Amino acid sequence: MEIFLDTSKVEEIEKWLNQGIIDGVTTNPSILLKDGSRDLKASAKKIASLIHPRPLSVEVCANDLKEMLRQGREFSSWLDNIVVKIPVINEYGTSCLGVVKELENSGIKVNCTACLSFGQALLAAKAGASYISLFAGRISDEGGDPADIVRKTKVWLDMWNYKSKIIVGSIRTIGDIQQTAAAGAHVLTIPPEFLSKLVDHKYTRFTVQQFVNDGKKALEAEVELVKVAQ
Ligand code: E4P
Repeated sequence: MEIFLDTSKVEEIEKWLNQGIIDGVTTNPSILLKDGSRDLKASAKKIASLIHPRPLSVEVCANDLKEMLRQGREFSSWLDNIVVKIPVINEYGTSCLGVVKELENSGIKVNCTACLSFGQALLAAKAGASYISLFAGRISDEGGDPADIVRKTKVWLDMWNYKSKIIVGSIRTIGDIQQTAAAGAHVLTIPPEFLSKLVDHKYTRFTVQQFVNDGKKALEAEVELVKVAQ
């Protein structure tokens, strides 16, 4: 399973890249706004270069399908590891699957995003999306079970040999991470603060503290023994 970082913060990307944890990065307009990135092209190029050849997802910001296509083509021209995020429908409910198909047919990788159901995920796969983003937190917000949708989608993709990879995004809890990973997601895109939580455990801290303290005591005792022997 791959782990992507769901952020545009360069220092966080460097931190987790240096630990060998991340296989890619995802962003969306809200993340860029929250992280203070105002120049999309400059931010995308910086992150894409930093993580190259790992993929960086950059989302189009439009409701018009032709404008989505235009933005998608432009973003992908910035660097060869940029994946274009196209929502499965626009805000008026119009299908964006034709945009997914057209970009993929021209060799541009698409992350079909904002999918909240098994039905949307299977249509994204049929349209040829390289990645399908299922939003765990937002599925739960509506009373759905993200792990169940991930499991069904994975079984279906394997059954019919689709190339699409499931990315689980919208992670709000450590439970989202563990349950959707166990359900067979190909990729989890995780906000940095949840990676910090995932690696931590208070009993591990206690255990390490015990070993460090006992190690120091053992070393002190050894030094005393050497002194006595001299
Ligand atoms: C990632 O690709 C998604 O855009 C992101 O995880 C959405 O998260 P949110 O539901 O917390 O906005």
